[in-house]
Amino acid sequence: MATTTTSQLRETAAWRALAEHAEEVRGAHLRDFFKADPARGERLTAEAEGIYLDYSKNRITDETLRLLLQLAEERGVAERRDAMFAGEHINVTEDRAVLHVALRAPKGSHIEVDGEDVVPKVHEVLDRMSAFSDRIRSGEWTGHTGRRIRNVINIGIGGSDLGPVMAYEALRHYTQRDLTFRFVSNVDGTDIVEATRDLDPEETLFIVSSKTFTTLETIRNATTAREWALSKLGDEAAVAKHFVAVSTNADEVSEFGIDTANMFGFWDWVGGRYSMDSAIGLSTMIAIGPENFRQMLAGFHAIDEHFRTTPFERNLPVLLGLLTVWYSDFFGAQTQAILPYDQYLKRFPAYLQQLTMESNGKSVTLDGQRVDYETSPVYWGEPGTNGQHSFYQLIHQGTKLIPCDFIGFDQTLNPVANHHDLLTANVFAQTEALAFGKTPEQVREEGTPEWLVPHRVFEGNRPSNTILADRLDPGTLGKLVALYEHSVFVQGAIWNVNSFDQWGVELGKVLAKRIAEELESKAEPELTHDSSTNVLIKRYRESKGR
Ligand code: F6P
Repeated sequence: MATTTTSQLRETAAWRALAEHAEEVRGAHLRDFFKADPARGERLTAEAEGIYLDYSKNRITDETLRLLLQLAEERGVAERRDAMFAGEHINVTEDRAVLHVALRAPKGSHIEVDGEDVVPKVHEVLDRMSAFSDRIRSGEWTGHTGRRIRNVINIGIGGSDLGPVMAYEALRHYTQRDLTFRFVSNVDGTDIVEATRDLDPEETLFIVSSKTFTTLETIRNATTAREWALSKLGDEAAVAKHFVAVSTNADEVSEFGIDTANMFGFWDWVGGRYSMDSAIGLSTMIAIGPENFRQMLAGFHAIDEHFRTTPFERNLPVLLGLLTVWYSDFFGAQTQAILPYDQYLKRFPAYLQQLTMESNGKSVTLDGQRVDYETSPVYWGEPGTNGQHSFYQLIHQGTKLIPCDFIGFDQTLNPVANHHDLLTANVFAQTEALAFGKTPEQVREEGTPEWLVPHRVFEGNRPSNTILADRLDPGTLGKLVALYEHSVFVQGAIWNVNSFDQWGVELGKVLAKRIAEELESKAEPELTHDSSTNVLIKRYRESKGR
């Protein structure tokens, strides 16, 4: 695969043209774009697999799109995509393939990693997960004392937590309601204590989810969970009925004391933040059932195929990824808001934070050159309409440009009174208000006194995408996640960064280990940190001693 150096991005013909072109677009208003082209709202849309994307309320022209698509071509996005699907080791810093797409490949398809077709392995694990899920759901699997499992606690962090918790919340409508699900991630003891305090160990199953099975938080929490369970169940043999593991590391799993017969595996070509549809989704499968889980995988796969085969001008993740590059690099946008108008998607922004920022929060290119352009924006958000009564003020009238993704559904899973019409009216109203605003003339016409006019003016020209789907079912969730996974891929390919490693989390881990020893040592440790860190450690030790 061809690699490029930092300056090569800025030197591409498309980048240079975009830089010039951005100056023209900056001076234009969305009002003018819509006036000049009344059909813009029909034209600048794309639809695939039941996902409708309206990107007309973006500060772009046909020329912008043409140049962004040219940039994708010059940066070899299609070639890089094909290399991913072909199982090449595109995660160069870890020398690994990147094949989350294989996790949702239908039985009988063929995807090779290092000469081996991995699809049969994927389905073997899915089948084992299904059988296990059915046994828990039906009550056939019982705890050590013969009682039925009523509570499932997933212990994991990062990709081993955010996907499961997001999917559980998103698909709550489809969950088996006589089972309680909880998710423990933080090493703060409060997390595990609060998650277990009202539960009975005899009825509780822990899923210890960790790709590496060495992550400090997860191993600490799992150990505390085991102590909690055994404090009532007594017998070590109980572990086999109350603990299962999801991991790529069988040695560490058995070292921890979990029988590898109760382990569900995955592989090093699945990144943590791309793993919610691997065995890491075991809690999701127990919650919604194997059939719904397979529907979710089918949704993922539909968008994989769309990404793989659709021309870029109609390719949803490509369009979304290119728009993010446009605002990050040519408009100075530092953040991107994710605004799902569905209460079930309340953890979706948090999930996307890891997916996007751990992937593209990089400042060196694949070949180690410092970038001289912006990479990932900060992703953040809250479900609508709550955000409207909180931070939307800044999006409407503040000094920052914040591109927004609005996500809505034609149908609600909870049709009650006219809630859904009100909710959806707010999606459309917000995108309209952001784009078109309210001019001083309009404000005056309303009889506003002159001194108040500036306060009531909405500049508009705030860009947004509107993403609509029929209803939030398992398939749709899979499609939405795949949409963002591939958008992240496109951004990374343009920026020429490795979207699949995360070296930036290492230093803190190493230092925390050393400091934990210093906080806990019986003898006064010799502190050789900087003066600030030394004082913080001393202060904590003194307070602990009191
Ligand atoms: O610290 C970052 C990270 O490595 C994430 O990338 C990952 O999702 C998380 O930790 C958890 O890792 P594991 O599944 O190995 O416990």
